[in-house]
Amino acid sequence: MRLYYFTGTGNSLAVARRLAHEIPATELRPIIGAQLGERPGGVLGMVFPVHMVGVPVPVRRYLESADFSALDYFFAVCTHGGTPGKVGAYINHILARRGSRLLDDYFALRMILNTPKGVAPRLLMTMNWAQKISPDQVAAMARRTASAIHEIAQTVAARSTGCEAPAERTRLPRAGELTRLLWKASEASTPVLRFLLDREACTGCAVCSEVCPSCRVAMQDGAPRWDDSKQCYFCYACFNFCSEQAIGVKHYTFKTGRYHHPEIAAADVAAQTRG
Ligand SMILES: Cc1cc2nc3c(=O)[nH]c(=O)nc-3n(C[C@H](O)[C@H](O)[C@H](O)COP(=O)(O)O)c2cc1C
Repeated sequence: MRLYYFTGTGNSLAVARRLAHEIPATELRPIIGAQLGERPGGVLGMVFPVHMVGVPVPVRRYLESADFSALDYFFAVCTHGGTPGKVGAYINHILARRGSRLLDDYFALRMILNTPKGVAPRLLMTMNWAQKISPDQVAAMARRTASAIHEIAQTVAARSTGCEAPAERTRLPRAGELTRLLWKASEASTPVLRFLLDREACTGCAVCSEVCPSCRVAMQDGAPRWDDSKQCYFCYACFNFCSEQAIGVKHYTFKTGRYHHPEIAAADVAAQTRG
């Protein structure tokens, strides 16, 4: 089995690693390194975060380009912060519009929200992460995911088709108008995400540049510079892996906590691009 992952702050990578451990002969690979237009065979899974009730840019690119016709079994696992929307339906929507084989099954795992913005307007933004992301919450997430991953591994081993039988396009789960509008918005060319740097706090360690999966962050004169000509994947890795909390976003420059999965280090996230 091949298992592709995309991750910003390690939730999806931690899940992918455990799943690979539970399912024998799994080859774990970053989706960023996948060949666009490839034709995988056998069993294929993908693990990634929900972004704006949709999928991250590298996942969408892969879904729009690869040929899935030779697969025996195809599943997706999303990690999310509490509002996953209908990502399984979205993936099938992307696949169906190019006449592709659909997913056989789809799973959603609630983890910890890795952005103070999420899809929320300013008033609903999480302003104090130190309070929100307590050690108890992180421990509860670890317990929840461990049992869920075990169930997913069993379901995959049984080749469940709980989400969609590939031949039955008409059974595509219906998404409401609002959901479809959000999908459209997430596919539109999004303005670049502007990160704000506290130059005094920045030590020039370059971790933000190393973890960036789109290679948008370059070091210049000992500080990061975000290259607006390169696409941002909105993963929040630079923001979250800064040990000085020197990177902020609009409405949130507070140094009240950042998040990454406790099992995943900056070097693990960096490896998805460089590995
Ligand atoms: C730009 C962005 C958009 C997000 N949108 C959603 C969302 O619509 N619904 C949700 O539940 N979580 C959302 N999240 C939270 C992530 O899906 C969640 O924290 C995920 O587990 C992060 O995985 P990762 O650590 O592998 O990057 C979003 C995160 C980011 C950075």
